[in-house]
Amino acid sequence: MLRAMRTRELLHLHNTGHQGINALFSKAHSADWDIDRDVDWTVPIGPQEVLIDDAWSAFGRTATFQALPEAVRRYATSRGLGRMLNILQVGESVAQDVCAKIALLVREEDYRNHAAAQAMDEARHHLAYRRFIEKMGAEPEDIDAGTETMFDALLAADAPLELIATEQFFLESVAMDIFESLRTHARHPLLRDILTLITRDESRHMGFGVLYVAEWMRTHGLAERVSFARRWLGQMLFAATDQPGPIMLGRLLRRLREAGVDDADALGPRLLREQQAINVAERAAAVSGQRIPQVMKSARRAGLLEADILDALGLAEHPLIRATLHASQA
Ligand SMILES: [Fe+2]
Ligand SMILES: [Fe+2]
Repeated sequence: MLRAMRTRELLHLHNTGHQGINALFSKAHSADWDIDRDVDWTVPIGPQEVLIDDAWSAFGRTATFQALPEAVRRYATSRGLGRMLNILQVGESVAQDVCAKIALLVREEDYRNHAAAQAMDEARHHLAYRRFIEKMGAEPEDIDAGTETMFDALLAADAPLELIATEQFFLESVAMDIFESLRTHARHPLLRDILTLITRDESRHMGFGVLYVAEWMRTHGLAERVSFARRWLGQMLFAATDQPGPIMLGRLLRRLREAGVDDADALGPRLLREQQAINVAERAAAVSGQRIPQVMKSARRAGLLEADILDALGLAEHPLIRATLHASQA
């Protein structure tokens, strides 16, 4: 449980003097946006409207999916989008709780300020996704057990390093990759607009995570740094290399059945085979350094890819780590 702060503890709050973290607080105001004034909520979403390209969704680029009737594809892709937005809207509420907790836990003035400002951003993001989901006019699919378990563990945490490493450093870096892919493929102007505004805030939030972890790494010895990196690099590499497989296929086949495709299950093996060929090509593109995932860039910027750590973890030859380090020197 959170122990209540005493007035004496607040009387002379210490500011770390970290320029980057202090600057994030002023940026939270200068780069602020108004959910009612800066977003045109009168733009309608038509029942037949294509909100995002099929190519955004898992299996959406396979020949088998593309050969399906237009109405089926539209339904499946829109259900996939609804599921993602539902995860994001609850993720925003989780982030708001985490930030409120950080603001009450940490003593550093600049860290508290950032957390308080971020909490308000997350409240606005939550509202934006909720409004968009409502306009879509269909109850979204439930969130999956894995996501729920991960959010529950984060909500139960109460150590600042654990909270910040999980939320701002890890989750918000992963979220940046999700936003980029959503924004690249979004077709509906309202979806594009809210994603653009939210991404602007999220890059500040992630920036705090990277700076906080980098500061922690700078002030801790090799054994502690290695143990932190052991805990997080595995997850970051997993997130950076996660590709559509059987779990996503199961969701897609259910949507196809809902859309009236009678032989949906018979399409499964073909969809999986075609997607696997796409996955292989994408993995090759990733290790060639064409597009380094944000989560790997964050790992590098926070100091998790330093040579002594990689040696200790036996990860110096990992292809994606090598690509990340190589791209940063280019
Ligand atoms: Fe957010
Ligand atoms: Fe955020």
